[in-house]
Amino acid sequence: MKLRSNCLSRLLPEILVVVFAHATWVNANDATQIFERRVLPLVKSERASSCRECHLAGIDLRQYVLEDSAKTFAALAVAGLVDAEKPAKSKLLTFISRRPEKEDPLLAKVRSEELAAFQSWIEAAAKNPPAPLPTAAQSTIGSPTPLEVIRHTRIDRVLKSFVEKIWVDIERCENCHSPARNSRLIEKHGEQISWISPNDPAGTLAKSAQQGIIDVEKPEESLILLKPLGVVEHGGHRKFALGSDPDKRFRSFLADYASAVRGGYREAKDLPVESTEVRYATGQQLRITGLNSDWRDRLMRVDIYCWENGKWSSKRIATGDGYVNGPQKLWQNMILGIDDRSQSGKSAESKRLLPSGKYRVRMFLDRDKRLDRDRDYELGDEEFVGSVEFSGDWKPGYQPPKIVEFKEENATQ
Ligand code: HEC
Ligand code: HEC
Repeated sequence: MKLRSNCLSRLLPEILVVVFAHATWVNANDATQIFERRVLPLVKSERASSCRECHLAGIDLRQYVLEDSAKTFAALAVAGLVDAEKPAKSKLLTFISRRPEKEDPLLAKVRSEELAAFQSWIEAAAKNPPAPLPTAAQSTIGSPTPLEVIRHTRIDRVLKSFVEKIWVDIERCENCHSPARNSRLIEKHGEQISWISPNDPAGTLAKSAQQGIIDVEKPEESLILLKPLGVVEHGGHRKFALGSDPDKRFRSFLADYASAVRGGYREAKDLPVESTEVRYATGQQLRITGLNSDWRDRLMRVDIYCWENGKWSSKRIATGDGYVNGPQKLWQNMILGIDDRSQSGKSAESKRLLPSGKYRVRMFLDRDKRLDRDRDYELGDEEFVGSVEFSGDWKPGYQPPKIVEFKEENATQ
């Protein structure tokens, strides 16, 4: 009896080792099996990972997977993306669980498969985390894209830019391109004329991209730009001019969007510089009468300043541009408000009126048609032709617009 118990106590450590080794083997094997059966197929498939719904480029779930379970887990642990103590709190799972308000049904399915697979695998692997590898043997894992580029190509940022640069002018297109208003045109031209999704910039951007009026290969040839410029035949005629403010804004959005979608940005220095101004729609129209007759058919930009705290604002608070109508010697256009980006917490998405008050309108005329030769040229002091001031109420719409008369004595030469 004594002997046997002695014998058992001598053997006990060995038995325990065997039992533990067996448990370890089962766990490691579990993780490996889950990894091979459920994780690898996800990243080997051709389809886009769910990350694509928000990250237009530079991020893919494949970047978070190496060839085997142990290596992947070790690398993710070093990168702080899995938490062996609290596997459910792993950062990688947070990434996979992010979902937009309106999920694309296909990507929603992809997302739940990804989440289920990674959750089971991380949990299994965390039960027996592989020993940390020596620094020299560590593999890097995760997206190689710099954070600035990840931020810039995120859909919420891209959408904000779409709103500031294109959606602010949507009023100029709505009558014919919003399904809320164009039933007659649909009959004549077909469904694709309704590229606007009413009150829904995200839907409008998605629709425009889908139906190909945004061309990511040749952004400058996108129909959403060429049609309103009138450089190709357009049922709605010319809505704005080459070199005008909307032409510059539309092109700037399209080029940026195309680079983002095509993964054209590698480093922070490739990113475009953000304007300090944010435009917003006001729905207000301005008509200036009594213009000089030789200004006809020239593009004129007006910058509007307001009287505040006993002086004129140092920065323009609104702008508009368009051609001078020769026979009637007038200029009339939609006015967009301008916020200072650093000070504005306001969204450009909704319309806001310029308040009634006292305004000075400074006028810049492209007399020499410089914009025809260089669309990116900005009219400045050389093109300044005069100013008008007005005050009082300024109602939205063009029936009537705000009408002010220009007096020759306020012209500069
Ligand atoms: C619903 C939209 C959405 C989806 C889908 C999404 N992300 Fe993100 N992602 C964001 C947002 C928003 C941020 C910025 C979060 C912040 O700044 O706190 C971000 C930030 C990131 C960052 C930047 C680094 C960091 O620590 O913030 C990485 C890397 C990232 N996501 C990876 C992924 C991966 C991988 C996927 C797919 C598995 C994914 N994301 C899916 C919205 C999303
Ligand atoms: C007065 C009506 C009208 C207005 C306003 C108008 N359009 Fe159009 N647009 C049309 C008609 C009609 C067509 C169909 C015939 C054609 O392709 O030119 C069209 C076609 C288009 C197409 C091609 C759609 C497709 O997929 O076939 C685009 C893009 C477009 N317009 C952009 C604009 C933009 C941008 C604006 C505003 C800045 C605008 N349009 C304002 C009438 C208008």
